[in-house]
Amino acid sequence: MKKIILTPLLLTVMLLASCSGDEKGLKDTFEGDFLIGTSMNMPQITGRDTMAQPFIVKHFNSVTAENCMKWERINPEPGRYEFTLADSMVAFALRNNITVIGHVLVWHAQTPDWVFQDSLGNPLSRDALLERLKDHIFTVVGRYKGKVKGWDVVNEAVDEDGSLRQTKWLQIIGEDYIEMAFRYANEADPDAELYYNDYNNEERAKRAGVIPIIRNLQAKGIRVDGVGIQGHWHLDSPDMEIIDESIGEYAALGMKVMITELEINVLPTPSWLYGAEISRIAEYRDSLNPYVAGLPNSVEAQLTDRYAELFRILLKHDDAVTRVTFWGLHDGYSWKNGWPIPGRTNYPLLFDRDYNLKPAFHAVIDEAEKFK
Ligand code: G3I
Repeated sequence: MKKIILTPLLLTVMLLASCSGDEKGLKDTFEGDFLIGTSMNMPQITGRDTMAQPFIVKHFNSVTAENCMKWERINPEPGRYEFTLADSMVAFALRNNITVIGHVLVWHAQTPDWVFQDSLGNPLSRDALLERLKDHIFTVVGRYKGKVKGWDVVNEAVDEDGSLRQTKWLQIIGEDYIEMAFRYANEADPDAELYYNDYNNEERAKRAGVIPIIRNLQAKGIRVDGVGIQGHWHLDSPDMEIIDESIGEYAALGMKVMITELEINVLPTPSWLYGAEISRIAEYRDSLNPYVAGLPNSVEAQLTDRYAELFRILLKHDDAVTRVTFWGLHDGYSWKNGWPIPGRTNYPLLFDRDYNLKPAFHAVIDEAEKFK
């Protein structure tokens, strides 16, 4: 009998076949509704996780850089840019006909202190900071012009109560830092879509702060194409009616609506840690990490129902919703294993740690098929 030599490639193909069978890719099921995306991290981009890229090609038609396009990664020091990982992700996506989303140009987090200081460490003037912002946006957006479909131009500029978040951008430049970022991004790539992205912006209070930002841009003739609702959600929150209402309200402004960082946390979590305020963390306790040995069927069922309910709403709005991106390729990669409480075992996505399809995956597919 002929001996079969198990090369890494063959092994990957076999593993994929055993994990995902002959079923349709997630993206194919939602063809004509909206793009289905995933974030990509370092092991996936470099191919160190040999399963990741074939899996992404099968199930997703959009990718977002989870970290490698953030200011501290792509422009860690004045004048120094690190494009290697971002270039690889973009090349992988384009080779495979996958839409690339750029994340993120202006954010209060993961932006090095030097950005706001002169060479002596003194705070920059408004004009100098605007110049630096323009230079960063032109360099990064310019490099991927024609390759990135859309950019998260400004991320998380609004607080829970709807007021503008107190950031160095706001303090040094003033409220128009948002307009200026959108102006620069438009100049740098007039064909890329430009988004405002936030978490909890489905909630009424925060939405009441985001809507005037969009209206202000529109009133001044500054291009903004869409609103990203991150979607860092939970089994018990938010209410589906709130998600439904918020999509409708953003769409009524003429915005494309995207769920940009979706996952559903299944672990007990104090509600003051809902959302994605990464400066907040809580201490680890075993009682907050109850499913280390596996997710009980009853909780799995809740997760499945919640995903089904969510996708019913997203499909209902498929004229406005243009993309749904999951924040993590499978449960093992989710940032929710480490935040807001470090060292937990979470199960927030559609694929398990071995790339197996979870019941939530099938439920989401069923919703799409019922909808056709
Ligand atoms: O790669 C380094 C590793 O070399 C080092 O040993 C280790 C020690 O801390 O850190 C690793 O980097 C971490 C990185 O994730 C990769 O895992 C950073 O510390 C950590 O801060 C970083 O967290 C990211 C977080 O944003 C902050 O940038 C998460 O992966 C990422 O999922 C999360 O994504 C954000 C969105 O960009 C915006 N919306 C909220 C969302 C969740 O916070």
